[in-house]
Amino acid sequence: MSQHLLLPFMIFAISSAPGDFQDSALSPPQEEPEDLDCGRPEPSARIVGGSDAQPGSWPWQVSLHYSGGHVCGGSLIAPSWVLSAAHCFVENGTLEPAAKWTVVLGVHSQDGPLEGAHIRAVAAILVPENYSSVDRGDDVALLRLSAPAVLGRAVRPVCLPRASHRWPHGTPCWATGWGDVQEDDPLPLPWMLQQVELRLLGEAACQCLYNRPGPFNLTFQLLPGMLCAGYPEGRRDTCQGDSGGPLVCEAGGRWFQVGITSFGFGCGRRNRPGVFTAVAPYETWIQEQVMGSKPGPAFPAHPQGPQPEPPEPMEENCTIALPVCGKAPRPGAWPWETQVMVPGFRPCHGALVSESWVLAPASCFPDPAISDLDAWRVLLPSGPRPERVTRFEPHENASWDGASDLALLQLRAPVNLSVAPRPVCLPHPVHYFLPGSRCRLARWGRGEPAPGPSALLEAELMSGWWCHCLHGGQGASVPPPGSAPHALCPAYQEEEEAGRCWNASHWSLVCREEGTWFLAGIGDSSSGCLRPRAFSPLQHHGPWISHVTRGAYLEDQLAWDWGSEGDETETQTCPPHTEYGACGLLPKTSQTTGVLWPWLAEVHVADGRVCSGILVARSWVLAATHCVLRQGSTTVPSIQVYLGRAGASPLPQGHQLSRSVTSAPPLLCQTEEGSWVLLGMAVRGSRELFAAVAPEETWIAQTVAEAHFLPPSGSPNWPFEGSDLCPPDMAGASGSPRAALLLLLLTLLVQS
Ligand code: ARG
Repeated sequence: MSQHLLLPFMIFAISSAPGDFQDSALSPPQEEPEDLDCGRPEPSARIVGGSDAQPGSWPWQVSLHYSGGHVCGGSLIAPSWVLSAAHCFVENGTLEPAAKWTVVLGVHSQDGPLEGAHIRAVAAILVPENYSSVDRGDDVALLRLSAPAVLGRAVRPVCLPRASHRWPHGTPCWATGWGDVQEDDPLPLPWMLQQVELRLLGEAACQCLYNRPGPFNLTFQLLPGMLCAGYPEGRRDTCQGDSGGPLVCEAGGRWFQVGITSFGFGCGRRNRPGVFTAVAPYETWIQEQVMGSKPGPAFPAHPQGPQPEPPEPMEENCTIALPVCGKAPRPGAWPWETQVMVPGFRPCHGALVSESWVLAPASCFPDPAISDLDAWRVLLPSGPRPERVTRFEPHENASWDGASDLALLQLRAPVNLSVAPRPVCLPHPVHYFLPGSRCRLARWGRGEPAPGPSALLEAELMSGWWCHCLHGGQGASVPPPGSAPHALCPAYQEEEEAGRCWNASHWSLVCREEGTWFLAGIGDSSSGCLRPRAFSPLQHHGPWISHVTRGAYLEDQLAWDWGSEGDETETQTCPPHTEYGACGLLPKTSQTTGVLWPWLAEVHVADGRVCSGILVARSWVLAATHCVLRQGSTTVPSIQVYLGRAGASPLPQGHQLSRSVTSAPPLLCQTEEGSWVLLGMAVRGSRELFAAVAPEETWIAQTVAEAHFLPPSGSPNWPFEGSDLCPPDMAGASGSPRAALLLLLLTLLVQS
């Protein structure tokens, strides 16, 4: 039945359409030059809601090419005039020569020969005198073509609004262009013109959104002549490459160009709608520039007549969109926790990152498994049934780079995010998790269950300096606060207490910001038992994840109070490394003979723990509190201290093992004069992170009168240059665990 109806129509369309098109393309426009028809595409050509535009639906859209490639959009407003954005043509305050630009009209796909398209050289570029930069407004430009465009089905002008025209906020309008489909993600071949429906936002609502400080406390002041369109929740927007293109709204059967794509904060971000140059205020400026050209642009009367200023509540509040991702009922109950079941393998733990995509380690899916995606099943928390997988996309470096051991799995049917399975948030490429952030370890890959009670999975993020220098190379410059780190180091206590060293690649690091959980890092299998554990930041994979998923929830940093770390303005570099980490200058014990560390003591606690102590006076040994006292306890257990043993001529292997010191090695630095100074004691759970002794000087001096301190002025000259070597305030760096500062002095009951 439908075929009967369709066939005659199809025959009609095929036989008549080409003639129509050529007619109108070759003959001069029917309208009198004085009243140019505008804003009317060929009827019924548009698909509402899609993202590829239909050919001919936006016939005023032009592409502006610079040395052969698309750079900006524009709109045809008269046969010889194109409207665009000033910032497309002004570089460092100077206007690019018109001769370098060409205008491509009637294009749909920019790939290959452009049917019905034609090209015009640019005779002149006109920009308002006051234009300086996008954020200062006046981002508008007029291009005079070297010869009039040939109007036809695919090439028609848009209508311009009079200065008095007003569109109420909430009006649905359309933006078009060949710009990026996401931040740093270019439109893929065949470069089809894209369209997106955007709603006009009232000035107060837009200002209110931009008043909410974003990362680095950035806010933005909207200026007269700018307008916003988009949605508080983001996700639909214009982007790089769309600039200069039109935002059009329909009125009385015609399309009026209400805005010119100008700028935004990122693209499609939450609470950051696109900013456009409002066209109506430029009626006079446009008229002046095009004066005398016939036909000029059309400014039809607004069908509803001049609109009064739309009533808009001017109060400060607006609808702020909250993140859709990263909401957990309580820590550990992760609504994004996913298990991928592949026949013949143990379940693999991953995370839901959007309606349709799961992120998991690529190493879970060896080659033989990939051949049969049909057999895979994905279990989601409170999902009604196992989901199926249609696509598997491993990271290109997954096989050799532990930090890229990632794969994306597309679900056959998208899940409904209004109920239980919900995605975790991912960090934008420049997202800095603050030192002190509360994090948790979550199962990842073929991980085993928690190594102990789940509370032990809690962690606090260490300062970037520590983390970077403990794992980064000597002399490396430390990424300043606010730039992407190379590693994330959570300080946690579970290992010592669980008494074993587990494999970090079985865990991911989720961190909370303002109540929202982010997948911050993945365990890197290369780190072994090194402590503090370093996780590979996930933010570096944001571009890949958003490119593949086109909809994962990448979020800006939600908190940016760096505390004291944020005050550091100078670039810091890491001190020289030894294989022991940090600035410890301990020589290799294997090369030693005799008693190398005569001040080193073994502190044996009743329950079998052994840790290091330092003889600081004839009757006193300094030890770390956490080594001597059980957590939460204040009673001192029975303790035995052995002196003159450590570093003594190599002990038999077995003996050495049984005597190995399990906690709190000291950090000693040598002055130029050759004396060694105790600078720090290792903090709980770490062999590389030290609590400074200096801040405890008063307490030690009062307790142990004979303890010897370096004179304050005669501070040691370290054998390496640079004041950041063994900085005296190390332990004061924000993010170093509080427990680190506790030191304990043991009195020796010398029995000789
Ligand atoms: N300035 C960009 C360009 O040159 C347009 C950016 C629009 N951004 C946005 N978030 N709406 O193409």
